[in-house]
Amino acid sequence: MARAGGKLILLGEHAVVYGVPAIAAGLDRGAEASARPAAEPRLVVGDVAASPDDGSDLGRAFGAVIAELRAPAAEVELRVEIPAGCGLGASAAMAVAVARALQPDATRDAILAAAHAWESVFHGNPSGVDTAAAAFGGCIWFVRGQPPVALKVGAPLPFAIGIAGPPASTKEMVESVARLRQRRPQVFEKSLEGIRSLVQNAKLCIEAGDVVGLGKLLDLNQMLLSGLHVSNEGIERACQIARESGALGAKLTGAGGGGCVIALADDPQSVLAAWRNHGVDGFAAVVTESRT
Ligand code: PMV
Repeated sequence: MARAGGKLILLGEHAVVYGVPAIAAGLDRGAEASARPAAEPRLVVGDVAASPDDGSDLGRAFGAVIAELRAPAAEVELRVEIPAGCGLGASAAMAVAVARALQPDATRDAILAAAHAWESVFHGNPSGVDTAAAAFGGCIWFVRGQPPVALKVGAPLPFAIGIAGPPASTKEMVESVARLRQRRPQVFEKSLEGIRSLVQNAKLCIEAGDVVGLGKLLDLNQMLLSGLHVSNEGIERACQIARESGALGAKLTGAGGGGCVIALADDPQSVLAAWRNHGVDGFAAVVTESRT
């Protein structure tokens, strides 16, 4: 059985597409895949089956992984443990799990290249941060086009993760940010520089175990993401509830437009309870250093 975890982007989503560093962390929950030799390649996810030539995105993504790995035909069964389209990197976890199932001995670089080919089908212009987090786990510093760097995590980072809204399309959110960049290039550049400095400071906080400082930086990153028009009412409300129930900082994670928020909190359970009272489901996760 091959596995890969989902991810949280702690800071830097969207800006990472334009070369700004991002900090991401692997989740234990993710996807699990098993492969067995077959006459024709086939991917089965729950009641959905796809093959490379069936015209579906899933089939094309599967075909892209097979082509990249030059893998022999196999039937792959895939189980996904996190909701899709919510910013938790479900698609990247699926990609890495499928690639690992198809070719257990492949190098991490080969797995990353195959997963990137899968992500390109769904996302158009992926930075690669999702696949890097899925393949590495732990907490990573990611710059587009460069190998991820494992970060030292001075103190475990307890998060509450809440599903603040329905899934949104990462591709559409990335395209809407690209349009904003065209309309208002100077404002856009200022936001990018702001996010860059937050991410750089967050790295220092994470290494030093300064969770209070990190919380403030998460709040500021959320403000700049709102300025890029990727937040919405549900996200803002979930962040507000989290802060009122003791979170040190809260923001959307991933593409936004819906999906998940993360709240850094000494007691994630009290944030989860407050969210539950307002109809927001969630779970807790602790970010630590990579175990590999
Ligand atoms: O796939 P999501 O929703 O976790 O978001 C990916 C992060 C973005 O920065 C918005 C896009 C990218 O390719 O980095």
